[in-house]
Amino acid sequence: MPISHEDLAGALLAWYDKEGRSLPWREDPSPYHVWISEIMLQQTRAAAVTGYYARFLSAFPDIPALAAAPEDQVIKAWEGLGYYSRARNLHKAARLLVSDYGGALPEDYEDLKRIPGIGDYTAAAIASIAFRRPVPAVDGNLLRVFARMEAYGEDILKPAARKAAFSFYAAFMDRERPGDFNQALMDLGSLVCLPGGGARCPACPWRKACRCGRDLSFSSYPRRSARKPRRICPRTIFVIRRGDRVLLRKRPSGGVLAGLYEFPGAEGHLSEEEAVLFLRGLGLSPLRLKRLPEGRHIFTHLEWDMRGYEVLTDDLAPASLSGGLVDADIRQLEEEYAVPSAFALYRTWLEDREDFSYLACQGPLGV
Ligand code: ADE
Repeated sequence: MPISHEDLAGALLAWYDKEGRSLPWREDPSPYHVWISEIMLQQTRAAAVTGYYARFLSAFPDIPALAAAPEDQVIKAWEGLGYYSRARNLHKAARLLVSDYGGALPEDYEDLKRIPGIGDYTAAAIASIAFRRPVPAVDGNLLRVFARMEAYGEDILKPAARKAAFSFYAAFMDRERPGDFNQALMDLGSLVCLPGGGARCPACPWRKACRCGRDLSFSSYPRRSARKPRRICPRTIFVIRRGDRVLLRKRPSGGVLAGLYEFPGAEGHLSEEEAVLFLRGLGLSPLRLKRLPEGRHIFTHLEWDMRGYEVLTDDLAPASLSGGLVDADIRQLEEEYAVPSAFALYRTWLEDREDFSYLACQGPLGV
């Protein structure tokens, strides 16, 4: 006999009540809490979000507090989570909510999608968890569970797959507990219906209804067409310092790591001679150059392949210095500047140095 929709929803919620994860944002699912947690969880695993979530809420306990904060402070509280446009959008959205929505998030799925940074998935998560609206929140977990339940043979990354998954779940989503229904599926995807060959079908409340659970063909689903390889970008990074101070530069407001502070850098792998010319172009007089370890950072669509130099100079702020560069106290990098994790290797290298004060003055480098 086929398994009814009611049975499927009931089995899922019974499983969730027993096996669901205790996560901080589930304790007090106010609209603001759900919003912040869902934005943090967009690209980051739940275990990694927990600490940031508590810290962010104690810095900005509600929408008006977030709206009133300067952008740099919001970015700073986001440091380490990556994908910083999320923090900028949160801040912009908080200001919009205060100016146009009476300081609160709208309840309706379509209205939520008009807020900066809130797309289909996040709108559905907020509408269902905070406002009990029956809207499926189709993320990667829900897509995988759907693809296996239905042995869905098309490319899961296409918009048609998302639509098919949405309709599949909407047909039997629990009307009383839509937020729990969505979160149960997230947990099912994270704990049981694991990616690749790792599915734990015997523990699954849906195993009898699942087309892959019956013949254990789960490792063939979901299907996806090959991704384009990432673009590799060689870069040279300069840790330019004098005593206990170092030069930082604010990145432009568009593109990767927009608006964040970085160690100044150049495209390509510069030789020492090229590096000295580049530094002079910034208006500096380098005294000594030292090669640092090579680093790599992976973004969604590109990869930085980094060569690093430590540069010593006896003047970090000459009149000739080009705009946009600031000199910062090395001990205050952590508190004051959002230097993204792409530079973690060079930041750690710098912070690990015990003696900031030495400066080998051998006269300007000749090239
Ligand atoms: N991933 C995205 N949203 C989540 C939630 N509410 N609970 C657990 N994992 C999630």
